Amino acid sequence: MSAVVIGASGGIGKALADAIEDEGVDVHRLARSFGSRHIDLTDEESIAAAATTVGSPDLVIVATGLLHDGEHGPEKAMRDLDPTWLARNFATNAVGPALVAKHFLPVMPRSGRCIFAALSARIGSISDNRLGGWYGYRASKAALNQFIRTIAIEERRRNDGTIVVGLHPGTVDTALSKPFQGNVGPGRRFAPDRAAVQLLDVLDGLKAPDSGKVFDWEGREIAP
Ligand SMILES: NC(=O)c1ccc[n+]([C@@H]2O[C@H](COP(=O)([O-])OP(=O)(O)OC[C@H]3O[C@@H](n4cnc5c(N)ncnc54)[C@H](OP(=O)(O)O)[C@@H]3O)[C@@H](O)[C@H]2O)c1
Repeated sequence: MSAVVIGASGGIGKALADAIEDEGVDVHRLARSFGSRHIDLTDEESIAAAATTVGSPDLVIVATGLLHDGEHGPEKAMRDLDPTWLARNFATNAVGPALVAKHFLPVMPRSGRCIFAALSARIGSISDNRLGGWYGYRASKAALNQFIRTIAIEERRRNDGTIVVGLHPGTVDTALSKPFQGNVGPGRRFAPDRAAVQLLDVLDGLKAPDSGKVFDWEGREIAP
């Protein structure tokens, strides 16, 4: 067995890579800042090149994501909409993981149980949107969920044992969530290593008919 974690420099990505390795599985750790194992989700050539270096993994997890950067962050209202920032959200959170699927699924085994998972977020659920706001992040995660569904349908024809899913990790104490943890009590915020174990437990329990769906850290399906 072997696994790939993309975004292995991040809070959840590093914890996932560590937890998978603890189970005795070989892990290829890829990240934007890793010289020889470099991957940038906004640069398709780097994604294609990285896919040629990982053999034929049974498990690929995309743990990258963008919520804020410098002065840019989640929009409170329409007046905050900025096309450049919106495009960056979509490039990192939706198009990037789809391009990872484009280049990594073809190198995964053609038969048997395999998993391609991308970290999504409950906020990407359209039916669950009651608060509004967070336009770019919310819409890019909704787009990611639609990519997951569409990729799952196509992948079933190549290998009906592949499970393509999105995962919501809960609120996890990382650089991404740090500025927004104010409303979340410490009891509802997970350390990255705990979040990683919870997500791997969810993946362990998935079956082929679950492909195309999004699950939270408790294994409950999130409505589209
Ligand atoms: N933390 C939470 O509470 C929470 C809640 C719901 C969903 N999530 C989702 O979980 C995932 C992981 O988040 P996290 O909390 O672990 O965040 P994080 O610690 O900020 O990690 C984000 C990772 O994404 C990478 N990344 C960003 N842009 C990239 C690009 N263009 N190419 C390659 N890598 C890129 C970062 O790489 P660099 O190190 O190179 O910047 C970093 O490894 C995200 O998809 C996030 O939306 C998190």
